Amino acid sequence: MGVSFDKADGSLWLKFDVQPKADPTSDADRAAKLKDPGFGRVFTDHMAIVRYSADEGWHSARVESRANFPLDPATAVLHYAQEIFEGLKAYRRDDGGINLFRPDANAKRFRNSADRMAMAPVPETVFIEAVEQLVHIDHKWIPGGEGSLYIRPFMIANEVFLGVKPSSEYIFAVIASPVGSYFKGGPAPVSIWVSETYTRAAVGGTGAVKCGGNYAASLRAQAEAIDRGCDQVVFLDAVEHRYIEELGGMNVFFVFNDGSLLTPPLGTILPGITRDSIIALAKEAGTPVREEAYSIDQWRADAASGKLKEAFACGTAAVISPIGKVCSTKGDFTINGGAAGEMAMGLRKKLVDIQYGRAADTHNWIKKVL
Ligand code: PLP
Ligand code: COI
Repeated sequence: MGVSFDKADGSLWLKFDVQPKADPTSDADRAAKLKDPGFGRVFTDHMAIVRYSADEGWHSARVESRANFPLDPATAVLHYAQEIFEGLKAYRRDDGGINLFRPDANAKRFRNSADRMAMAPVPETVFIEAVEQLVHIDHKWIPGGEGSLYIRPFMIANEVFLGVKPSSEYIFAVIASPVGSYFKGGPAPVSIWVSETYTRAAVGGTGAVKCGGNYAASLRAQAEAIDRGCDQVVFLDAVEHRYIEELGGMNVFFVFNDGSLLTPPLGTILPGITRDSIIALAKEAGTPVREEAYSIDQWRADAASGKLKEAFACGTAAVISPIGKVCSTKGDFTINGGAAGEMAMGLRKKLVDIQYGRAADTHNWIKKVL
């Protein structure tokens, strides 16, 4: 059982009991799985898991063989969706070492998500330690080249009770999945369906946190996008159905012919770590960035007039993906002739060069694990 003690600075620290898998995947099988992993279907050998109860606090921190969770059918998460998650990546450097990108930002956002969902907050030290422990033990699963290891920390309400209230027990776990590109075809431009019927988040709701329920509620709109032949859905604001919010799993940026950038303001959208990093990189390069409301009508008009040069989606899974085409009931329009734009691809290169350790980490975003 993991022993917990308080560090001098008062933050909780747990010692993880590491039990390596008895029969890990062979080198040959792993190499075959890493050949073309796609996104989210291949998993590493281990998981990190920590338990919480109101009586004991966080305890039983383990790294062990990845396995099913036995859940009573009345477990709270199965009924009321008290669940949150994160997404971050580990990158293989050219020197063979491993970089994590801004894990502290994910740990902080996870706490905010827990707070909004009335869940026990995972101390940031425990979050980061769990991620690092898993990356250490499964480091052979990090693909070379432009692949990476997608790390998925998550927490579920584990109390067996059908009353509607915050759970008194939680499981925090971290799993990992070697990935290539989120979209088939890599950073080729994607097409977007504008959801005029369904919204994602309203003021006072959960749009700004990463809870599974947000994604469940987005699936009808995403299915509509697929039906229309689009890759992703873009949501509009819940009040006027006019202003661009974000995609189902990505933030969005617009690039204008005066060289400036615009991205929707925080509030009901997920405060993306990629979004924040892009704003920092753009500003540092002297590019003006506005965090302002932008309507779908303006987007259409600016694309037609040539004022809008590019648009792109961004997120941990998507990195930076140019948007080539926008489809809606009011007709379709293309952006930049449907081609990847210079700004999107330039920012993408800057970002991934930092993540893979090919460019200087002047923002202190990289945490070396190996
Ligand atoms: N918006 C949503 C709804 C997301 O699911 C994600 C992905 O995590 C993002 C934005 C981008 O966030 P980040 O850059 O932190 O991955
Ligand atoms: C991410 O980019 O980490 C996401 O969570 C997006 C999606 C896979 C849900």
